[in-house]
Amino acid sequence: MKIGVLTAGGDCPGLNAVIRAVARSAMQQGDEAVGIMRGYQGLVEREYVPLDMRTVSGILHLGGTILRTSSFEPFREGAVHLIEDAIVDGGFDAVVAIGGEHTMGMTRKLWEQERIPVIGVPKTIDNDVPGTDYTFGFDTAVQIATDAIDRLHSTAQSHDRVMVVEVMGRNTGWIAVWAGIAGGADGIVIPEVDTTCEELAAGIRRRHERGKDFSIIVVAEGARLAAEGAEPREVHAAEVRDEYGYARLGGIGVVLAEELERRTGYESRVAVLGHIQRGGSPTATDRILATRFGAKAYELASEGTFGHMVALRGSAIEGVPLTEVSGIKRVDLSLLEIAKRFFT
Ligand code: F6P
Repeated sequence: MKIGVLTAGGDCPGLNAVIRAVARSAMQQGDEAVGIMRGYQGLVEREYVPLDMRTVSGILHLGGTILRTSSFEPFREGAVHLIEDAIVDGGFDAVVAIGGEHTMGMTRKLWEQERIPVIGVPKTIDNDVPGTDYTFGFDTAVQIATDAIDRLHSTAQSHDRVMVVEVMGRNTGWIAVWAGIAGGADGIVIPEVDTTCEELAAGIRRRHERGKDFSIIVVAEGARLAAEGAEPREVHAAEVRDEYGYARLGGIGVVLAEELERRTGYESRVAVLGHIQRGGSPTATDRILATRFGAKAYELASEGTFGHMVALRGSAIEGVPLTEVSGIKRVDLSLLEIAKRFFT
C-alpha cells in the first residue's frame, strides 16, 4: 500500500521520529511511504518526497520536521475537493496526519464527511490533545524549561531577586506545572486557575519572612491575571491573531514581574523562554513515544482502521476514534496542589 505522511500546525521535537517510524515500518512490510510537504497544503499543491531509506536516515534525533509544516486548513480554504482528487490521483491508500488538536479536528472531518482514509498522530509541546495521556514534544519542552529554571535559581539567589519565568502551553498549564515542580518553583500561575498578583506577592513576602531572599515564579503564557476588583484577564504583548483567530500569547511575564516588584519591593526580572522550548533535539522519552506512535499509525493504516488517532493510554499505545478527540485537555489540578506544598 501507499501511505502519505504529513506534519501540520506548530512543530515540536519528535516529528521526525514519527516520520521515520512510519516509513521504516512500511519498508519492512514492502509498502511505500511518501512525505507530503507542509501539511495538507502539500496535497493541494501535490508536493511530495519519497520516504525511502536515504530520506529517513539520520533524522531520529533532529528537531523540527523534514516535511516542513503549515496551518493550511482545507475546509476554511475550500480545498477539500482538491485533497480528494490528490488522494485518488496520487494513489494514496492512507494519510498519516501528525498534528495538534486543530489538525486532529480537520482530520476527523476529512474522515467523517469525505471518507478520506486518514489516521491522526497527536503532537505538541502543550500536551493539550485529549484522548491521549501524553503527546510527544511535551517531555522535551518540560526538560528545557526545567533546565532554564535551574539556571535562573543561581542568578536569582545571587541578586536577591524575584525571577518570573514565562513558559508556553497555549491555554493550558501543563508545561508550567511540570517544569515548576521539577524546578522547585515558588509559585506557578496557569490558565486553569485564576491567580491574583496580591496572592503571589503575599507568598513571596512569606518566603522572605522565613529567610529566603529570592523567589522563582513560573507563569504559563495563557494564564489570566486578576488585579483587585477587576476581572481576570489574559495579557498579550501583541494584538496579533493566528490563522484560527486565536490571540498570539506571550507577554504576561513582563507585567507580572512589574506587579510583583511594585507590591513586594523586591527587584524582579523576567525570562521568556518562547520557542526555545520547541526547538532542538527530542529527549529519549519523546523519541520513544514518537517512534511508538509512528509504528502504531502504520499498523492502523495497514489494517484499514481509519478515522482514528494513536494515543498513549497508561503504558499502552492504542487507536482511539477521532470522534472522541475534541476540545482541549486541561491540567490535573491535584498536581498543582502538590506543587503548592513547596511554595513557601
Ligand atoms: O502549540 C505550541 C505553541 O508553541 C504554543 O505553546 C504557543 O502558544 C504557540 O505554539 C506559538 O505559536 P507560533 O509558533 O505560531 O508563535
